[in-house]
Amino acid sequence: MKSYRNQQTVRSSDRTRSIIIKSTDLQHFTNLHSQKSPTCKTKVLRRKIVTTNENGKYTGKVAFVTGAANGIGRATALAFAREGANVVVADVSEQGNQETARTIEELGGRAIAVKCNVTEAEDVKAALAKTIETFGRLDFAFNNAGVEQKNTATAEIEEEEWDRIVDIDLRGVFLCMKYEIPLLLKQGGGAIVNTSSGAGVIGIKGGAAYTAAKHGVIAILFG
Ligand SMILES: NC(=O)c1ccc[n+]([C@@H]2O[C@H](COP(=O)([O-])OP(=O)(O)OC[C@H]3O[C@@H](n4cnc5c(N)ncnc54)[C@H](O)[C@@H]3O)[C@@H](O)[C@H]2O)c1
Repeated sequence: MKSYRNQQTVRSSDRTRSIIIKSTDLQHFTNLHSQKSPTCKTKVLRRKIVTTNENGKYTGKVAFVTGAANGIGRATALAFAREGANVVVADVSEQGNQETARTIEELGGRAIAVKCNVTEAEDVKAALAKTIETFGRLDFAFNNAGVEQKNTATAEIEEEEWDRIVDIDLRGVFLCMKYEIPLLLKQGGGAIVNTSSGAGVIGIKGGAAYTAAKHGVIAILFG
């Protein structure tokens, strides 16, 4: 988590809230994405991760990770486990979710898999309620679930496709923050990390919906 490039830290007016946004990708994750299949990615992760549940710097802490069934979310869930955190693996994909949680447990960590569509407030609330019910607290939230956009000229983007991308990539982050922040404030602190993109700071031709959503993920912090 510590080697994000070009990360920006924004301290909000809430004294207990420190939010870090990632504006470009971590080379480690890029390397993982260059692997040919999800199975291959998992093997790489299995070799890299060494759980340190007893002495990790996040031992006793609880991390909630969305989009944790695959890619960056899965890698981050495993990284949290390596540092000793109990992990809530939240994703719309039940199968991938279970696989991430099982991998963490096989490596000696503690995790639960929670099916959660980040565009649904009820799902987000239920997933966070399950977090508190199971682990008793929330310390870190990584709001990372996202989808890409097929390269399409703006006037050619279907309204439904615009809504789907902006709902997942932007509204999903808002909903997660909306229900995470009160939990963090209640216990006196914590950290939220939202995944934006290079497309959150520059323009991507043919990617109006994704680019707008990812710029929004950064802009949301200034509210
Ligand atoms: N991979 C890249 O090169 C790259 C670059 C810039 C930004 N990002 C961003 O990083 C994040 C993760 O990307 P990734 O490459 O790991 O993607 P990925 O496709 O490997 O994983 C995304 C995960 O999000 C989940 N997801 C999708 N819709 C969801 C929903 N409605 N509710 C809950 N979960 C949902 C998927 O099931 C999947 O497990 C995304 O926000 C993406 O936009 C990725």
